Amino acid sequence: MALMLISQAVFLSLRLNPARATTLPSIPTLDFNVTSESTLSLSSLEYILIDQRFHDFTDDTGHTLIPPTLAAFARTFSEDYSTVVGKALPVETGETPIQLSIFLTLSNDTNGFLDAAGRPTAEGYMIDVSTDSVTITGASPLGAWWGTRSLLQIATLGNMSLPIGSALDAPGWATRRMMLDAARHFYPIDFLISLCNYMSFFKQNVFHVHLSDNLNTHDFYTRDRSLVLYAAFRLISNESVVDGLVKPWRVNETYSREEFDELQKRCAARGVTVIPEIEAPGHALVIAQWKPQLGLKDDLSLLNISHPETIPPMKDIWRTFLPWFYSKVVHIGADEYDTTLGDDYNFFVNTMASFISETSGQTTRIWGTNAPGRNSTVDKSVNIQHWALWESNPLELLNQGYRVLNSDEKMYIVNKWSKPYPQKLNLTRIFQGNPAGGAFAPFVFDVNNSTNNPSRGHPNVEGHIAALWNDWGQNTTTYSEAWYSWREGLAGLADKQWGGKLTLEQYNDVFPKLHPIAPAQNLDKTVPSKTDVIFEYDFSTALLDENTIEDLSGNGYHATCTPSCRIDPSDGSISLEGEEFLTTPLSTKGREYTLSFTVKISPSTPIGSPIFTGADSTLQHGNGTNPNLMLITSVNEAYPLNLTLPTGVWNSVALVERGNATFLTVNETEEMEFLAVLGVIGNDPAFEWKEIGVEAPIARIGGDGFIGNVANVTLLGRA
Ligand SMILES: *[C@@H]1O[C@H](CO)[C@@H](O)[C@H](O)[C@H]1NC(C)=O
Ligand SMILES: *[C@@H]1O[C@H](CO)[C@@H](O)[C@H](O)[C@H]1NC(C)=O
Ligand SMILES: *[C@@H]1O[C@H](CO)[C@@H](O)[C@H](O)[C@H]1NC(C)=O
Ligand SMILES: *[C@@H]1O[C@H](CO)[C@@H](O)[C@H](O)[C@H]1NC(C)=O
Ligand SMILES: *[C@@H]1O[C@H](CO)[C@@H](O)[C@H](O)[C@H]1NC(C)=O
Ligand SMILES: *[C@@H]1O[C@H](CO)[C@@H](O)[C@H](O)[C@H]1NC(C)=O
Ligand SMILES: *[C@@H]1O[C@H](CO)[C@@H](O)[C@H](O)[C@H]1NC(C)=O
Ligand SMILES: *[C@@H]1O[C@H](CO)[C@@H](O)[C@H](O)[C@H]1NC(C)=O
Ligand SMILES: *[C@@H]1O[C@H](CO)[C@@H](O)[C@H](O)[C@H]1NC(C)=O
Ligand SMILES: *[C@@H]1O[C@H](CO)[C@@H](O)[C@H](O)[C@H]1NC(C)=O
Ligand SMILES: *[C@@H]1O[C@H](CO)[C@@H](O)[C@H](O)[C@H]1NC(C)=O
Ligand SMILES: *[C@@H]1O[C@H](CO)[C@@H](O)[C@H](O)[C@H]1NC(C)=O
Repeated sequence: MALMLISQAVFLSLRLNPARATTLPSIPTLDFNVTSESTLSLSSLEYILIDQRFHDFTDDTGHTLIPPTLAAFARTFSEDYSTVVGKALPVETGETPIQLSIFLTLSNDTNGFLDAAGRPTAEGYMIDVSTDSVTITGASPLGAWWGTRSLLQIATLGNMSLPIGSALDAPGWATRRMMLDAARHFYPIDFLISLCNYMSFFKQNVFHVHLSDNLNTHDFYTRDRSLVLYAAFRLISNESVVDGLVKPWRVNETYSREEFDELQKRCAARGVTVIPEIEAPGHALVIAQWKPQLGLKDDLSLLNISHPETIPPMKDIWRTFLPWFYSKVVHIGADEYDTTLGDDYNFFVNTMASFISETSGQTTRIWGTNAPGRNSTVDKSVNIQHWALWESNPLELLNQGYRVLNSDEKMYIVNKWSKPYPQKLNLTRIFQGNPAGGAFAPFVFDVNNSTNNPSRGHPNVEGHIAALWNDWGQNTTTYSEAWYSWREGLAGLADKQWGGKLTLEQYNDVFPKLHPIAPAQNLDKTVPSKTDVIFEYDFSTALLDENTIEDLSGNGYHATCTPSCRIDPSDGSISLEGEEFLTTPLSTKGREYTLSFTVKISPSTPIGSPIFTGADSTLQHGNGTNPNLMLITSVNEAYPLNLTLPTGVWNSVALVERGNATFLTVNETEEMEFLAVLGVIGNDPAFEWKEIGVEAPIARIGGDGFIGNVANVTLLGRA
């Protein structure tokens, strides 16, 4: 490459014009010294250049055992740049910043890269924007990666231009993350990957996945009932020592080693480390269902630690799965155990922690749990994830020398319904949650009483994590509802976990601009469309050829008939005779939609035939046991209406999702609502009926036995 070196004049002008310090409202915010009133337009840039000295450099001081090289981060950045900026830049290698390039390099000068405790952090970075190039200098490849997130965000907020000047930025805390209960509800691996990708855009760096748990046991349940209660272990291995741990009928709700590898690698590629949790000796019903002699008599979900057969299978489980895990810390649960068995509890934790350390060198984390031992304590090498002030005293633990992660229940979410916990992140608490004044931050363990909080710079505060629980299990929610619990607040929380300065007012302004550009995910399941009409099929007029129905919306989402389109000329409908179906080029549509159509179901249609099918849901004419119209979600749960569509007559139907609820109307009469029934036994009342938001099933019409006619199919992007 024959490109000129940057002109020294730019640096000279820096000294003449005193810097103007400002805070850019990216998420997290970025302190930036503006040195010129002009800007650098991204459209002028032509290269991403990797400093050749550090091309293959990796940093092993972070959370992951598989840290990407600087070059790997640069390639991912280049993909994002092309989707966000709309221009593909080649990735090349060079020695110094050159004109028209974004130069990615590393520096060992850690002076400025300090965390809240004043220690150097490898996640720090510097950005220097001149009139014709940008240099991002990471304290590590991960630091440089965070710098690229800032660049994309600032550019987006600045009309694709960057201010001239420089910034130096570093996270206050090393652990910034979310936890998902993937045990009491199953989540597809692609969904977890999308969550990592989204978190990464706001510089969260850890995703904690809770992989084993059960619905709550109760003392009035019989042993037999507990033995069949929903309990799941999400990793499947064919090692004989864990044979039977996953029940044969739950294999469809597990992750294979390949899938879990894919999750960890895809997350690591964007700077997010997956921390796996296998829970015991509490919340361990799945283990007692496997080996019933191991459960305590009064509560099968608690393992009997003093039973000589308890520790060996726990070691077998960890010996089997430790090689799967690419995080330096693994989570053994150890939550909510019998408080009278404190020494047993400590014995379990310390035994497992030293076993893990000897087997793989990994460190152990547990939930902060009130299980006082008479003659023992949890080893100081074990990290503690505090979650409730009545379970553990974070200040005391910190002062005793434990490393403590703040996961206080004041940021807990329980999907769908809960007496004590909300259903989504609380923005007021995020932006005003420090009882001493100001925003929430990872050292705020007690949001009501600052006496109970350590200083901001306490060196043993690892960071913060917000947890989402699925107390009511698989049949109460879709997988995407977990996302909607986080959607509004996650980025704001990420600002606070980093140590950012965003105000709620700024957040309300910038979040809607930055949310849609978060790369490598479509959690909202949006469908590009020119207008509110996403597709429109009129079978009476719009046959392009014998196999193709024209989409009249202008979006070009033409539909294909298999084997061919059979139009009934008398009413302009398409006839579907069991094997015939129509496919669209789309698969699913997220919140806010109206899917309308008319349908005449033949009396010979088998109960259980799908009318509309999509990636996340199916609208079905009954199922094997119930003739009612129902939505089936992608985890195979049925949500019936109290309505059986009459056969042999035309029904004009609209399926509508508005906010977090889904409705259906027939013949333009009153809306009926799809509801989830929560079996909240142990609480009062025992059942809760709750709204459920289900994506539109828009991949296929008919097929799988459906016999009938369909006409006038339209999908609107509003409810
Ligand atoms: C930082 O210094 C260490 C020790 O000298 C060296 O191993 C490492 O490669 C340096 N890293 C960078 C980014 O220069
Ligand atoms: C920005 O300016 C402040 C004060 O003038 C200075 O302390 C800081 O080091 C500067 N930061 C950068 C990245 O230039
Ligand atoms: C510690 O206490 C437990 C009971 O809580 C007892 O079984 C054990 O023997 C005690 N160990 C020692 C060393 O005193
Ligand atoms: C659904 O949204 C409504 C309106 O925002 C809210 O009041 C309700 O709590 C939400 N339901 C759930 C289960 O989150
Ligand atoms: C949100 O947090 C604020 C501040 O902590 C609190 O006053 C409010 O009750 C919380 N709202 C909900 C719905 O929990
Ligand atoms: C705050 O916490 C301290 C220490 O735990 C306690 O002494 C004090 O009573 C608490 N204050 C309030 C208002 O609850
Ligand atoms: C049919 O739907 C009902 C809900 O109405 C559900 O309880 C049942 O398990 C479903 N049956 C099958 C075979 O899917
Ligand atoms: C897995 O299979 C079982 C048994 O057929 C079924 O009840 C469950 O809904 C399936 N789970 C998923 C995620 O499809
Ligand atoms: C279902 O509808 C029928 C007829 O409209 C009505 O008698 C019945 O009470 C309804 N059942 C429920 C559970 O709403
Ligand atoms: C919708 O209207 C048609 C024609 O009027 C009628 O035959 C059918 O029963 C109606 N559907 C329902 C669910 O009321
Ligand atoms: C969901 O499962 C719970 C038990 O966990 C049960 O009480 C409830 O009735 C189920 N809901 C549906 C709609 O099947
Ligand atoms: C489809 O819509 C057209 C125009 O509104 C209407 O004339 C026709 O009757 C509809 N077809 C059916 C089968 O409902």
